[in-house]
Amino acid sequence: MLSRTPPMGFNTWNTFGTEISDSLVREVADAMAEKGYREAGYEYLVIDDGWSEMERDREGKLVPDARKFPHGIRKLADYVHQKGLKFGIYSCAGLKTCAGYPASFDHEYEDARTFAGWGVDFLKYDYCHFPKSADTVTAYQRMSMALKASGREILFSACNWGVQEPQNWMRSIGAHMYRSTGDIFDCYASFRDIALSQVDRLCCSAPGCFNDMDMLTVGMGGKGNVGMGGCTPEEYRMQFALWCLFGTPLMIGGDIRTMDGETEKLLQNRSLLAINQDEECRPPCRISRPDSETQVFLRHLAGNEFALGFFNFSDEERHASFFFADAGIPWSSGCALRLTDCFTGEEGKARDCMDPLLAAHSCRLYRAKLVSGE
Ligand code: GLA
Repeated sequence: MLSRTPPMGFNTWNTFGTEISDSLVREVADAMAEKGYREAGYEYLVIDDGWSEMERDREGKLVPDARKFPHGIRKLADYVHQKGLKFGIYSCAGLKTCAGYPASFDHEYEDARTFAGWGVDFLKYDYCHFPKSADTVTAYQRMSMALKASGREILFSACNWGVQEPQNWMRSIGAHMYRSTGDIFDCYASFRDIALSQVDRLCCSAPGCFNDMDMLTVGMGGKGNVGMGGCTPEEYRMQFALWCLFGTPLMIGGDIRTMDGETEKLLQNRSLLAINQDEECRPPCRISRPDSETQVFLRHLAGNEFALGFFNFSDEERHASFFFADAGIPWSSGCALRLTDCFTGEEGKARDCMDPLLAAHSCRLYRAKLVSGE
């Protein structure tokens, strides 16, 4: 089964935009293999918009840009495969891609066959220049079918930015992940708004098809294509904790070749990744009031374990209160939670309530077990 748990990988868009090339992709593949990302589970290396020539060839086939990809895509995909990774590419359901390159409207079967012939394992499928007269659901269904007919197993990453409530139909049409919001930018407000807008839609994520809150900006530091001031290290921790706790795909958008040690450690934090990849793929349950500046989430994990997250979305230091009774653990249960801090590894035990003090835009994330309160 493709995407039994949320897909993980790297995508070129956030940092490089359309400035992509054969040598860049090879360097990224090397970095993914050599710097521990592959071992941590990051599997797909995806080139986004801007990889093709501006016109199809005489037979109507998509052609890789000869300057950016002088050896073609097949050779590049082979290189990525040799590194033990999978290769992804981008197209669009409309008449042109968002950056104005040829797209797959009315060319779905032909393009899917081309991708399969090149050894593509993942297709991100965008929504720009979509004809007004066409039907969105049918267009995504058509590419999904074309991929199924292509003779190769290709993960279908649909990206229609949340138009027409995709959580209601993307699973049915065979997508493995679907973008549910507009584009992320590298600043706090952008990831906060995306995450908070999806809380009530996460119940539709399950093995086989996941709500995609967009590529991570962790480690971008305001540089690159979607750089917008950047985030503090604490905010990047918060972004990564939200993406992990919410069980959304983890596609790295920063320059994986040059990430600093702290960022590498964060993106490869096994404790956070284990929550994201938990086999039961349950959505988190919100314990706090939806309008509260601090939010508390409890997520059931396999093996009678839990993830417990505290988030301070306000611009000031705040306590985030959690009364265990609100999560079905009253005092009379005799139970406590044994906690392991996912960032520090520190262990502890708590009963009845917790009230951690959180700096502005920061979080705590624990792995928890129900134990006797004695
Ligand atoms: C849209 C998508 C982005 C990216 C660009 C490429 O904006 O949402 O993720 O793929 O197009 O042009």
